[in-house]
Order: sequence, then C-alpha cells, then structure tokens
Amino acid sequence: MQNKKIAIIGGGNLGTAITEGLLQSGEIMASNLYVTRRRTELLSRLKSQGVNTGSDNLEAVREADIVILAVKPYQVMEILKSLTVVLSPEKILISLVAGVDLRELGEITGKNLPLFRAMPNTAIALRESMTLISTNGSGEEHKQTVIDLFNKMGKTAIIPDELMAAATVLAACGIAYALRYIRAAMQGGVEIGFGAELAQFITAQTVMGAAKLVLETGNHPEKEIDKVTTPRGITITGLNEMENKGFSASLIQGLLASYKKVEKLENPG
Ligand SMILES: NC(=O)c1ccc[n+]([C@@H]2O[C@H](COP(=O)([O-])OP(=O)(O)OC[C@H]3O[C@@H](n4cnc5c(N)ncnc54)[C@H](OP(=O)(O)O)[C@@H]3O)[C@@H](O)[C@H]2O)c1
Repeated sequence: MQNKKIAIIGGGNLGTAITEGLLQSGEIMASNLYVTRRRTELLSRLKSQGVNTGSDNLEAVREADIVILAVKPYQVMEILKSLTVVLSPEKILISLVAGVDLRELGEITGKNLPLFRAMPNTAIALRESMTLISTNGSGEEHKQTVIDLFNKMGKTAIIPDELMAAATVLAACGIAYALRYIRAAMQGGVEIGFGAELAQFITAQTVMGAAKLVLETGNHPEKEIDKVTTPRGITITGLNEMENKGFSASLIQGLLASYKKVEKLENPG
C-alpha cells in the first residue's frame, strides 16, 4: 500500500479531507498522491505538503494504481468518460459520488474494471470516518486493498451496492444529524447556566463517550440508558419529555425524508 500511487480527481471538501486523512495516517507518502481540480490555486495547502496537484486528470490517472473520484454527481459522466483512455483493469477505481451506482459506472467505463463505491463522511479528515464500501465482480480480489486504504481513515464495512443510498443517509448525512443534536444540547446547556464554549466542550465529549460506550461494549444503547435512568429520577423525566415531543420519531422521519431524496437521485425514472 505504501508505494501505491493514488489519484484523487476532485480536490473539493471530500477530496481534500481524504488527502489530509491519508497524509495524517503517516503510511502514504505525499509524493504518491496526486490531487486535481480546475482551480488549482485552491490546492496550495496540499501542494505545500508535497502532494502533487494540478488540473490534468489524465496525467494524474495515467501513473496511478488507485483512482478516487470525488467530483459532484452531475460531473461524473463527463469526467469518467474522458478518463477511459487511461483506465485499465490494473487500476482500481473508487467512486465517492452519491447517486451513481456500480452498474452506471461500469457502463461509462465500458471495461471490466475493478470498480468500487465508497461512502465516507467528513470525519475522514480526522481519520474517524465511517466508510461503507461496495464492489463489482472484478473488484473482489482488490477488496482488501480498498478496505485497508479506508481503515487508515476510520472504520469500514462492506455492503451490497443496493444499500449505498441508505449508507449515504446513515453515515454521510448522519454526521450532520449528530451535529444538530450537539448544537441543540449546547443551546439547552446555555439556558441552564453554561457559557457557549464550555457547553460545546461538555456536549461533544459526552457524545463521544456515548458513542464509545456502544462501540466498545457492543451493548444496545438502551442497556446503557438503563444504567443512567434511576426510577423516578432526573434522566428518565427528561428522556420521556423528549419522546413526548417526538425526539425519536422526528429523527426517524428526517432520516426517511433524506432517504427518499437520495433514492430519487439513484433511480431518477
Ligand atoms: N461531503 C460529504 O460528506 C460526502 C460524503 C460522501 C460522498 N460525497 C460525494 O463526494 C463528491 C464530492 O463532494 P464534495 O462535497 O467534496 O464536493 P465539492 O467540494 O464541490 O468537490 C468537488 C470538486 O470537484 C472539482 N472538479 C470539478 N470539475 C472537475 C474536473 N473536470 N476535474 C477535476 N476536478 C473537478 C471541483 O473543483 P473545481 O471547481 O476547482 O474544478 C471541486 O473541488 C460528491 O459526489 C458527493 O456526493 C460527499
């Protein structure tokens, strides 16, 4: 993996976050990374760290072992078509683009390439992403390489491609939902006496603790909740009031609304 050359086509929010995550892992040399976008002046920070940068996608892909596509969904067809002359079955192609499935990607490339889709979230810049990965038949033998790559930047799971729309909602949009919880809890915290900064620190660390309790024990959240809810206690009073106001129901409804929207993107017909 250390000597693999990686081209990242589309050095925007996600492309840059991945590049930073890879650099932070300390396992990928900056000189093995090539990031492209049209406005290359916006890549100066990566360039100053030794990453190859430019606007020539063909040049970036020609030398690469792994090609990561991080452009907007409406750009993917045109850009991928232009890359087909330099793509070959020796290269692994990973698309991060929401709403374009493996079948469509395969139709555009028109070759029997090892194709992957990966759905990370923006915590990838801090190497704390949850990344869901799917692949086509030709990708099977390269699966471990792709898992190893994204494991450097968080946790991964392999899923069937049909679940990518659901993965987009739960993992990629999920960051925003969790942040909205943090913001709301902070606002409550300010009302009961904390300054905004301290409320933010307390809330964020508490959420991280809750996540670790679930991740590291494997316990169902309700089992951990039971430990905090004394009969007739303070916590259960608050929790029941939140549920009374539709806490869980509105979260689930919101998630379903996002899912409907992403499904439309995946199946426009
Ligand atoms: N953000 C997330 O949380 C997230 C999570 C999972 C998946 N995704 C997917 O990741 C993709 C990128 O999202 P994003 O938020 O990073 O978008 P973004 O910030 O707009 O990045 C897209 C980048 O593509 C570049 N680009 C456009 N045309 C190009 C071309 N011809 N050649 C090379 N680069 C080109 C743009 O830069 P120039 O205009 O300078 O060329 C821009 O920097 C989307 O498809 C999205 O569905 C995002």
